[in-house]
Amino acid sequence: MRLSRIPRPGPSQDEADPVPGEELLSIEGLKVAFDDGSRRTQALRGVDLNLHAGEIHGVAGESGSGKTTVALTTMGLLPRGTHVEGSVRYRGTELLNISERQLRRFRGRRVAMIFQETSTALNPVMTAGHQLMMAARTHLPGTRAEARDRVRAALRDVRLRDTERVMSSYPHELSGGMCQRIMIAMALSCGSRVLLADEPTTALDVSVQAEVLDLVKGLVASRHLGVLMISHDLAVLAQVADNITVMYQGEVVESGPGDVVLRQPAHPYTVGLLSCLPRLHGRRGDLPELPPVGEVTEGGCQYQPRCALASLECRQAPNLASVADGGDRLARCWKSTSVLAASKRGSGGLPRVPPATRATEPSLNGAVSLENESNP
Ligand SMILES: Nc1ncnc2c1ncn2[C@@H]1O[C@H](COP(=O)(O)OP(=O)(O)O)[C@@H](O)[C@H]1O
Ligand code: SF4
Ligand SMILES: [Mg+2]
Repeated sequence: MRLSRIPRPGPSQDEADPVPGEELLSIEGLKVAFDDGSRRTQALRGVDLNLHAGEIHGVAGESGSGKTTVALTTMGLLPRGTHVEGSVRYRGTELLNISERQLRRFRGRRVAMIFQETSTALNPVMTAGHQLMMAARTHLPGTRAEARDRVRAALRDVRLRDTERVMSSYPHELSGGMCQRIMIAMALSCGSRVLLADEPTTALDVSVQAEVLDLVKGLVASRHLGVLMISHDLAVLAQVADNITVMYQGEVVESGPGDVVLRQPAHPYTVGLLSCLPRLHGRRGDLPELPPVGEVTEGGCQYQPRCALASLECRQAPNLASVADGGDRLARCWKSTSVLAASKRGSGGLPRVPPATRATEPSLNGAVSLENESNP
């Protein structure tokens, strides 16, 4: 007797192509705490973030701010025992708290992740072609020949020319840039609409970095992918990000259109990050030292211990709120309007950051100071 196939929940094989601007990923109130038995680390404290088709959304912040945790949570790749609250939806379907079996229908197939170290993502003892074919056949139905055609087409899409040579090569025979292209090709050949790119160009030379970023931009425009581009490097995000979310200690501290946030930041932390970028002329700033990871500033602004503008009101935690005259932008700071005004007074390009002036405050390089600021 022939059994009829039972339709399963999850994305259909021929899921409709995304329409530009369509919401692909919606993250709301995401809280994640790692618990190793002796210590609990609150990695995310209520993160909201939306990603649309045709958008590169940059996620910035220092090491330890929670960027990778956002991506791993979306992929369902957190260690067992991790506490997760909130919501992560792919095109309206909740991805949290679903079974591993259900999640497999999205992971790699609709939402894919690429990493900084391709050497850890690619198996060193299998040829690139073998790995690409395995992924393509696991995630989509069809014959071996069809999978091979998809893989070849994806390799051409990521501008790898000699596809036969690439497919028969082992990862160590390929450059870092080629391996990163292969990871992107793998996502494309499996039909992924969302790419979570975690520091994808950090290990690459500047010229190769620019090529890979250009490639991603092209794919986003032609295929209406949504790309979450995670990077500690604002210079990288400045090249590609349509929108930017800046994270600090597991919280979003500023978000908005990339050019707006990077040219006229409204949060002292974003100002500090920008001042750390290498400059052709003048001295580079340094952010004041990071407090121990995972420590919470009880009842107050998380950035308080490092902020030159901290005052009494900052002992109460600010919400992420619209910034007056800040365009389509949110910031988590009581003084965001003044910080924005100070940024706007700076010369064009990256903001000119005046030195901290108040004698009562420690002089912190890379911190913004406000003219006429009166503290309560
Ligand atoms: N598996 C884990 N177990 C315990 N703590 C973790 C684990 N993964 C990440 N963390 C902690 O969560 C916080 C956020 O880490 P992560 O998301 O990797 O930050 P980022 O990617 O911004 O550098 C850090 O304090 C980090 O030490
Ligand atoms: S001014 Fe206050 S609220 Fe704003 S970042 Fe500094 S400490 Fe936080
Ligand atoms: Mg990381």
